[in-house]
Amino acid sequence: MCGIVVAIAQQNIVPVLLEGLRKLEYRGYDSAGLAVIRTQEGPSLERLRSVGRVAELAAQADDLQAQLGIAHTRWATHGIPSERNAHPHISDQLAVVHNGIIENYEILRERLQGEGYTFVSDTDTEAIAHLLHSHLKRGQDFVGAVRATVSELVGAYAIGVISEHEPDTAIVARSGSPLVVGISPNGNFAASDTSALLQVTREVMYLENGDIAVLTRNNVRVLRADGQSVQRPVSTSQLSADAVELGQYRHYMQKEIFEQPRALGDTLAMLGGAHSISPQLFGADAQRVLSETQRVLIIACGTSWHAGMVARYWIEEIAGISCSVEIASEYRYRRSVAEPGTLVVVISQSGETADTLAALKHAKSLGLNLSLAICNVPESAIVRESELRFITRAGPEIGVASTKAFTTQLAALALLALSIGKVKGKLSPEAEKDALDSLRHLPVAIAKVLELEPAIAQWAQGFAMKQHALFLGRGMHYPIALEGALKLKEISYIHAEAYPAGELKHGPLALVDKDMPVIAVAPNDALLEKLKSNLQEVRARGGELFVFADQGFEIPESDGLHILRMPENYGLLSPVLHVVPLQLLSYHAALVKGTDVDKPRNLAKSVTVE
Ligand code: M6R
Repeated sequence: MCGIVVAIAQQNIVPVLLEGLRKLEYRGYDSAGLAVIRTQEGPSLERLRSVGRVAELAAQADDLQAQLGIAHTRWATHGIPSERNAHPHISDQLAVVHNGIIENYEILRERLQGEGYTFVSDTDTEAIAHLLHSHLKRGQDFVGAVRATVSELVGAYAIGVISEHEPDTAIVARSGSPLVVGISPNGNFAASDTSALLQVTREVMYLENGDIAVLTRNNVRVLRADGQSVQRPVSTSQLSADAVELGQYRHYMQKEIFEQPRALGDTLAMLGGAHSISPQLFGADAQRVLSETQRVLIIACGTSWHAGMVARYWIEEIAGISCSVEIASEYRYRRSVAEPGTLVVVISQSGETADTLAALKHAKSLGLNLSLAICNVPESAIVRESELRFITRAGPEIGVASTKAFTTQLAALALLALSIGKVKGKLSPEAEKDALDSLRHLPVAIAKVLELEPAIAQWAQGFAMKQHALFLGRGMHYPIALEGALKLKEISYIHAEAYPAGELKHGPLALVDKDMPVIAVAPNDALLEKLKSNLQEVRARGGELFVFADQGFEIPESDGLHILRMPENYGLLSPVLHVVPLQLLSYHAALVKGTDVDKPRNLAKSVTVE
């Protein structure tokens, strides 16, 4: 997770770059840097970098003056925090800043080394700089070279580029990572979020995936991925200097659903380019704690409890040790058997949920001293109370309905299952590599699922009129059905229940009629044929089915049977993908009903009372 700032203006932009970085420091602060084109004696590129906070960079930049520049504050992913890994990265006379992760950087690096480029950092970004240079060398113009470069990138990026040969132009581009352009009569700017731009303008333009924007002192030109010029709407930001901005979204929940590729990318960024899992992801003492672990007890509430339920399948399957999952408010008052060698895993977005905190203290009072918190808030009470910790990088979650916190918790839990499996010698090198590849690809895979939104919004029209809904899933997708039902009731106030599909005939089938929509999560796994039979049971009773299927689900759509196919089959990590359409379905049903999406009645974001 990093922050970038780009500025081209009539006046000195160095203070603008530095102030922008200060605003973006929440996105990472292990190093900072900037590059400018000075024009006093002909254009010349100058770069300053420092390990540490923006204040240190500012001290170095005291006398610097320029009208064109880029800047970056870093949260290390590829390569340790050090000056040589700090951005901007340079290739000859051009400089690049980048926020995101380039998945194919190793392939690019090898190819560029073959062409004679020397790499001086461990970052993925340096490959972008040299790639861009290689396109310029082949005779492309500045814009053409940036287009050619981004077309070769796999992964997520927001970049800013300047070149000594182009003293009147800055180019920015994005896909997957955020980037907003700020427009003013005195110049044009870009940054990772609006808070960094408020110092110079409130007129902002949100770039879309694949967009490239060419900034000069008095113009901004936007090109789509296919090279066509496009007008993106300019809006006036209402953001107060310290609020979390809503951007182009109507609600925080919608924003947070769409932030999931970024949130997962940031959460998984700590893997860097590693080829193997390191238990140290969970803390310095994790190797010892995980080797002492003989079983896992997961404790959480609400959505976090659903994440724990998915993890039970992963831990038992990947690590081969038993795992139980408890609702915190139940566990803390139950007389339970405390077995030695139990790793207590507490999951919480806020880290302040009273029941979860009390349940953790209760477990410790029973002598269960191996504990791990998976949490989105680093300094929270639950984190402080736990021996090991994994901080998800979802960023602030404002909407009461939890979305990006859930998928990032799942990513953390998948890493936990793999780490225990590794420590226990249950993980083959091939399985480890496959799992790492799938994890790293998740942001891209989720971005594709988000493209289903228009079709889901259409389904939601009919849904919003219903009083009840039934969600079905099997195996590790049963908790996903539970999560879908929770989301729907929480924000649309439609009564929803979830069942493992095999349980249908043991009671809930009695509820099924034309007024009870049935939503099925249907991944292409070993239970698919069984699930299909369960769905036939619903159809035979006149129930209307809405199926989120994988590729390979072969029943054709018909009256009363609606199917949306997920873009990719995702094996063990499939729950991370399958929850996303359910989040969108509840969001759109709530929109149709006109409820207060971000602050549903009777609820609160952090439940700090019992
Ligand atoms: O902050 P936590 O993860 O501990 O919160 C637990 C639940 O209160 C929370 O997940 C709640 O269920 C959400 N509103 C669900 O969307």
